[in-house]
Amino acid sequence: MKFSTLTLQAASLALLGTTYSAEQLAPFKYDSLPLGSIKPLGWLKDQLRLSAEGLAGHEWDFYRYAMNSTWSGGTWEYSGLHETAPYWFNYIVPLAWSLDDARLKAQAKEFLDSVLDAQQADGWLGPETAKSERGLWARALLLYGMIQYAEADPSETERIVAAMHRFVNLAYTMLKDNYTGLVPVSGDVFGAGNHGVTRAHELATQFQWLYDKYPNGNEANIWGAIDLMFKGGIAAQRDWREFFVEGVFPTVAMPAIVDRRFVHGVDLAEGLRWTTALYRLDKNESLPTQAHDSVDMLFKYHGADSGTITADELLAGMSPNRGSELCMAVETMYSMSYLYRFYGTNRFADRAELVAFNALPASISPDWWSHQYVAQANQPWAFNISGNPYVNVNNYGNTFGLEPNYPCCTVNHPQGYPKFLAASFMKVGTSDLLHALLSPTKVITTLGTNNKVTVTADTNYPFNPTIKYTITAQSPFTFHVRIPAWANLSTSTITLGRSNPVALTPTTDNHQLVSVRTGTTTFSITFGQTVSVVQRANSAVALHRGPLLYALDLDYNTESFSPRTYNAPTVPLPVYQVHLPETQDHFLKPVGKDWAIAIDTASIEVNDMSDSTTPLKNPIFAKGAPPVELKVKACPIEWGVTNDVLAEPPVAPVCTGDAKVVSFRPYGSTKLRMTELPVVNLS
Ligand SMILES: *[C@@H]1O[C@H](CO)[C@@H](O)[C@H](O)[C@H]1NC(C)=O
Ligand SMILES: *[C@@H]1O[C@H](CO)[C@@H](O)[C@H](O)[C@H]1NC(C)=O
Ligand SMILES: *[C@@H]1O[C@H](CO)[C@@H](O)[C@H](O)[C@H]1NC(C)=O
Ligand SMILES: *[C@@H]1O[C@H](CO)[C@@H](O)[C@H](O)[C@H]1NC(C)=O
Ligand SMILES: *[C@@H]1O[C@H](CO)[C@@H](O)[C@H](O)[C@H]1NC(C)=O
Repeated sequence: MKFSTLTLQAASLALLGTTYSAEQLAPFKYDSLPLGSIKPLGWLKDQLRLSAEGLAGHEWDFYRYAMNSTWSGGTWEYSGLHETAPYWFNYIVPLAWSLDDARLKAQAKEFLDSVLDAQQADGWLGPETAKSERGLWARALLLYGMIQYAEADPSETERIVAAMHRFVNLAYTMLKDNYTGLVPVSGDVFGAGNHGVTRAHELATQFQWLYDKYPNGNEANIWGAIDLMFKGGIAAQRDWREFFVEGVFPTVAMPAIVDRRFVHGVDLAEGLRWTTALYRLDKNESLPTQAHDSVDMLFKYHGADSGTITADELLAGMSPNRGSELCMAVETMYSMSYLYRFYGTNRFADRAELVAFNALPASISPDWWSHQYVAQANQPWAFNISGNPYVNVNNYGNTFGLEPNYPCCTVNHPQGYPKFLAASFMKVGTSDLLHALLSPTKVITTLGTNNKVTVTADTNYPFNPTIKYTITAQSPFTFHVRIPAWANLSTSTITLGRSNPVALTPTTDNHQLVSVRTGTTTFSITFGQTVSVVQRANSAVALHRGPLLYALDLDYNTESFSPRTYNAPTVPLPVYQVHLPETQDHFLKPVGKDWAIAIDTASIEVNDMSDSTTPLKNPIFAKGAPPVELKVKACPIEWGVTNDVLAEPPVAPVCTGDAKVVSFRPYGSTKLRMTELPVVNLS
């Protein structure tokens, strides 16, 4: 049926003299499950609940940029991008449905209703009427929230899809008119930072969902709009194919803001998907290769141990003193899960997990009420430093607070875990299921046409490497578990029912396959973990074990006070703009100078007190909470500091005192830390 409709459409367009022919977009390797089918368990549920009960679940009640933005009849915007409320919507929907939280669902519903009811006669979504204010960019975030809503709540799907069709038709008309709304011209106020045109693939990606799922005879306009989003970006010299090329791609820190077209960290974290989103329509086979190369290049030259990008806000190279913006963590996680779903390349999923278990929680306070704008791998303090190691971040940026720098982070970071959860299981073909991103979860879904299945993955992963699965199914199917690349296969096992553990047998896609019967199937998988000592800049090293990065966990004192204004961090926000007593800014100051050490990597001992069943502490990403540590022999050394900014790790460290054993803890639980340390021989 679909085929004949498409043929008809193509034929009638041919009569109108266009060259359009209905084409398919290149498909994802794995399909996603509808939002809400995967529920968190264990520590992940605890983290999501903390987020829902903390800042993320209360921004709608007090945060001026969420509740009183131009989208709600107010005037609060920090730029012409008008992106804050759409960012909020993009996270509140998956957070609400991950937890089945009625209060948050009601917030999402209120916003959805107000936006759809206010759709303008020409199809525009949002408060803007003037051409100079009508930027397409924030609509990418809005539509992403709407798509998640449409998948989570079928009773709203039709209304959302109808609104998207009206909007895509308008967008196509605008784009045909010299890329109106995408490429800013003189007088346009929507072009702040040129983020919209640099991220042209984002709205195109949302339109691709419409094309894949609900084309409804409107294929020509949707395809046209997708195509022109890319062409407009390219016309405005944002062709990412020209940037992710050895010889062009910057291999060192950007000295200053010169040409910032491609080197902004958040743009880049999103830009990692540009070539793949283009490939879906263009189908040039050089694009998948470039998509892989771009990830490898970015992390080779600007990758943090914790899985995120080092950029503050422009690419900052390999120094452990430079900053990684929290938004880069969540956007990198999302890009890696998207790329994994498209290509099935194992390292993309490993990278999504690395960020989820390390970079993301490290920048958020255990109670989920405050966050940093930028984190550092070597971060012995977090306060308003007198110097500034960053290119475009203020000297308050590593403070834990409400808006320690630009408020985009306040409204964007909560998407991290809800989207990670939503991407954790994927469909393989129509009848099989893959556990792709590992964590404690429960899935209830239908495979094929009517195979109702429930999968429970009970685990303390990433703090313990065993996952116990209980699967009930109405018909047999093949269950896949992704085997992380770090797993040591000589010590990894699978135990089916009551039989003895046997070695894993990875497929070429690095999956362990399990035949699931009708009824209940149980098995457990344990991944062998090894400590790895990773070489970093200046001969320093970082310590990993399994999916976790470890860092020297420093003792500190906290000074807390009412939140400061992001663009004037000495000025407290008025009381009506904060949520007291929970919203506070926090300066973390180290006790002593124990951070200046060198370590002997030959002395590392694992102290693993984890097991697969004892519930983890809540919050788990708090000082001393995870049940694993590495004990390492270390000695004090000289380490320079200028205006509160650390020198690079000394390359020829000399012990200035006695050696002692120190504790390295999972990075996400350390708020003041040292991650990249020089090496000495203490034997
Ligand atoms: C939001 O707007 C309402 C109505 O103008 C006002 O009463 C309230 O104080 C505002 N809140 C914030 C945080 O701006
Ligand atoms: C189209 O937009 C570009 C800037 O993006 C501008 O230089 C050019 O004059 C515009 N052309 C027309 C016909 O408006
Ligand atoms: C595919 O892309 C490459 C690199 O941009 C280009 O050299 C080549 O001509 C393209 N191939 C086709 C068929 O367009
Ligand atoms: C894997 O584990 C075995 C057994 O403990 C060990 O001998 C080997 O070195 C490990 N391999 C790697 C790559 O760490
Ligand atoms: C930041 O540091 C400066 C100088 O040390 C100090 O005067 C200022 O009050 C501090 N800001 C806050 C919010 O404490």
